[in-house]
Amino acid sequence: MRLSVIGCGYLGAVHAAAMASIGHDVVGIDVDQRKIEALSKGEAPFFEPGLQEILAAGIASGRLQFTTDMAEAHGAKVHFVGVGTPQQKDGYAADLTYVNAAVDGLLPFLSDGDIVAGKSTVPVGTAAALAERVTPTGATLVWNPEFLREGFAVKDTIDPDRLVAGVPAGAEGEQAAEVLREVYHPAIAKGTPFIVTDLATAELVKVAANAFLATKISFINAMAEIAEVTGADVTTLADAIGHDARIGRRFLGAGIGFGGGCLPKDIRAFSARAEELGRGESVAFLREVDNINLRRRDRAVDLVVEGLGGSVFKKNVTVLGAAFKPHSDDIRDSPALDVAVRLHGLGAWVTITDPEALGNAERLHPQLNYVADRDEALRGADAVIVVTEWDEYRRELSPEHAASLATGRVIVDGRNCLDASAWRAAGWEYLGMGRP
Ligand code: UGA
Repeated sequence: MRLSVIGCGYLGAVHAAAMASIGHDVVGIDVDQRKIEALSKGEAPFFEPGLQEILAAGIASGRLQFTTDMAEAHGAKVHFVGVGTPQQKDGYAADLTYVNAAVDGLLPFLSDGDIVAGKSTVPVGTAAALAERVTPTGATLVWNPEFLREGFAVKDTIDPDRLVAGVPAGAEGEQAAEVLREVYHPAIAKGTPFIVTDLATAELVKVAANAFLATKISFINAMAEIAEVTGADVTTLADAIGHDARIGRRFLGAGIGFGGGCLPKDIRAFSARAEELGRGESVAFLREVDNINLRRRDRAVDLVVEGLGGSVFKKNVTVLGAAFKPHSDDIRDSPALDVAVRLHGLGAWVTITDPEALGNAERLHPQLNYVADRDEALRGADAVIVVTEWDEYRRELSPEHAASLATGRVIVDGRNCLDASAWRAAGWEYLGMGRP
């Protein structure tokens, strides 16, 4: 099928390449000339495992093209809209400027029977408003939220755990759902659940899922706070409650908390939208979820201060990690980078390293000392803090090797990802998050 994808950021670039890889003819459209040039050469503009390969294969096959010209969308049967919905500069609500501009820009090129499939994460009610603009063209607006995780984006797009289609009522909606079934045929043929619903439910599924995941992380981090004053161990607690299938162990990793381009801004936008709907109290707990999350960054900084005897001033602190999570070079709202910046603010000499995110981090915070080589970064450290659980730090760094490079013996485990007993046995003072 011929498809267009409007917006070639994280979501759009991956979606375009993934749709070409399953056999569709895809044109990706973005206003950013540089991004389009890179993508047209088959180069991924950000680090995402597997993306480079399917991009290059798509371009080589002739089934995948990129352009800045919206007119190229003409002739596609389905137009996916995957532009960003960042947090507004002066509030919690989502900024819908790009979504509105993308849909308005597309209108002149739509044909009767086309489908406009929104994928961006939007406040509930957005799709209904957009439908009023799309319907006069004879096209149908549907909402088809995306649940991909950075680091696993290609797999999550080609082989998702569920597909959701919000469609208008009646025959028009049924036909649109049928077209989406065809688009996602390989996944559906494998038995992937395909949930057809109304527009509002589809929009809400997305924000509810992210709100739940954020709540789960903050729940375990709240338990970490209690563990810290009682001498309990939050990792054992998580293992024990995680064995209950109703609870489950995943996303019970206590540490410096969640960041990235999605969870933080999505829970804030959800709160803002609920307020607008007169139901602010229904999701008031999300404010607390956000507060708990941000408090854990303070706690990590405090542990370094504590470990260094009350002050980090003019001490060498090596920060392992900058990305908001491993397998990503994304530093948007990264708790890792935030901890590094706070330590720098307290007068520490901060050296930071990361396998993929250093370039992005340095552009945003040039004041820190960036060292690409992990061992170089560890040399002379008075204290070390792990803030992104890359395998390079979690599995491949032995406490003995680290001890041969660092000057001090303080290790703060901001992700509870190290073997505490091994580090202690090697002479380190190990400080975890919610662990004795
Ligand atoms: C998240 C959701 O997981 C995806 O399903 C969703 O599609 C995506 O947002 C989106 O809305 O686009 P992502 O932002 O890639 O995906 O990252 P996650 O894997 O959810 O991790 C988010 C943050 O939570 C990271 O900073 C991670 O370190 C942290 N985290 C995760 C914890 O602190 N503890 C955990 O146990 C798990």
